[in-house]
Amino acid sequence: VPSHFTLSNGKKIPSIGLGTWQSKPGEVKAAVEAALKSGYRHIDCAWGYGNENEVGEGIKASGVPREEIWITSKLFEYHHEPKYVEMALKDTLKKLGVDYLDLYLMHWNICFQVDAPEGELPLKEHLVKNDEGTVKLNVPLSDDVTPTWQALEACVEKGLTKAIGVSNLNINRTKQVLKIAKIKPVANQVELSIQCPQPELVSWLQKNDILPCAYSPLGGTDGQKLRENETVVKIAEKHNVQGATVLISWLLKRGICVLPKSVTPSRIESNLKTVDLSEEDFQAIEKLAESHPPNRVCDQSTLYDPHYDIYQEKS
Ligand code: A2P
Repeated sequence: VPSHFTLSNGKKIPSIGLGTWQSKPGEVKAAVEAALKSGYRHIDCAWGYGNENEVGEGIKASGVPREEIWITSKLFEYHHEPKYVEMALKDTLKKLGVDYLDLYLMHWNICFQVDAPEGELPLKEHLVKNDEGTVKLNVPLSDDVTPTWQALEACVEKGLTKAIGVSNLNINRTKQVLKIAKIKPVANQVELSIQCPQPELVSWLQKNDILPCAYSPLGGTDGQKLRENETVVKIAEKHNVQGATVLISWLLKRGICVLPKSVTPSRIESNLKTVDLSEEDFQAIEKLAESHPPNRVCDQSTLYDPHYDIYQEKS
């Protein structure tokens, strides 16, 4: 079971990271501290999660030196205009209390229309709405990633982040980034689990030397049915581990970086454990993962579709 994956830029990323999406303020500082103290060296954050201040407090409280930790964050949909990209990254750095990121991802290949005072970073209250009250998209920047990607490349050149990547992109949209990139995306973070296995996207990314990273690997808040699936439980019992461990180990064996979220110290610790699945057990879970259409924890279709082809199965 790999402890690290090597990215196309030669850097080694720890294969399991702590997810922080939906980790509430008041919980996430302790979660990050517990994770780092129990051996995690990879924390996955995002400006859009609204909790990076506390994540930073947890990093500080852990006492683990910055250079030992892999930190990923993400550029939010409010901040794709080139003039905001560096400002947004610097805001994240300030909140996290660090002076560089290891990886900065474009959170979605979608940009919202914003109207913020000169020199200020756009917040939720600066979103421009359509007549019916829905958020207005910045269509040119949502259709063409080039200006945003070039601003992200400038952040690498300035040393604000060691690498850049993408998140929530299907094959076509990732291809568009590759076509114009001088600095290639090293990773694509998407939802991956037995209920959303995305085999076509995963193998395409791997062929193109882009690391697939899995959010909601346990099926999110509704994940009990995944952890308690009969096949998963049978394999877990054989190894005397939790169902969650089997779900994580299966993704690792597919060559995917895994980002389980938890704010519960015992689960955080347990999610770092892995088992080496036999070929037979691996295939049994592969089969399970084929047996239904993708079921997403995070489905933004109503916000972005039908104009945008975000999801692989709809592209
Ligand atoms: P909590 O954070 O309260 O501990 P995902 O990573 O797929 O988004 O799943 C996150 C959800 O799964 C959270 O509700 C989290 O709860 C729960 N969870 C995380 N790890 C485990 C585990 N080992 N066993 C059971 N539930 C878990």
